[in-house]
Amino acid sequence: MKEINYKDMKFNPFNLIGGEWMLVTAGDETSCNTMTVSWGHIGCLWGHNDPTAVIYLRPSRYTKKFVDEETYFTLCVMDKSFKKQMAYLGSVSGRDENKIANAGLTPVYADSSIYFQEAKLVLICKKVFAQELKEDGFLYQETIDESYPQRDFHTMYVGKIEKVLVRDDEYIR
Ligand SMILES: Cc1cc2nc3c(=O)[nH]c(=O)nc-3n(C[C@H](O)[C@H](O)[C@H](O)COP(=O)(O)O)c2cc1C
Repeated sequence: MKEINYKDMKFNPFNLIGGEWMLVTAGDETSCNTMTVSWGHIGCLWGHNDPTAVIYLRPSRYTKKFVDEETYFTLCVMDKSFKKQMAYLGSVSGRDENKIANAGLTPVYADSSIYFQEAKLVLICKKVFAQELKEDGFLYQETIDESYPQRDFHTMYVGKIEKVLVRDDEYIR
């Protein structure tokens, strides 16, 4: 994969995150986990318009333990041919199965983070903020009723994008 400047990325965030989905991965050489996400944001926050990615993890996710423990997490965008594996990684827990091996993914440990050799776009993110969403912050009860009937509020993580890796030119403007 080759590294590019985040300013040279090209994509529609709604299609990329909500449509193609991403894998959130954290851990080290000996132990790591990954899961599918389709909620998140990519944009500028703090510093000098720092490039950041925001993800939301529910308390039950095994991956959350790794994201909480590690300094870095990665976001991987996979080819369409991995859709079935993405659905699997987003429905089974790494507590119960060796999801990464079962999905045929090859972990790469680099820059204090884990990503997958098969990814077509990788964002290496340094965790700079983590906080559970609080019930009293919601301005409309319907959001809670729709998304949190069990009050299992997501933890929001802001990661500063430190490196962008691409497989080919698809995401380069
Ligand atoms: C398309 C898709 C999107 C998902 N998006 C999220 C998300 O943004 N946040 C979240 O906490 N869970 C999300 N999930 C659910 C987790 O991926 C799922 O619970 C997963 O099995 C957790 O795995 P783990 O326990 O190994 O971490 C999504 C699942 C799918 C299929």
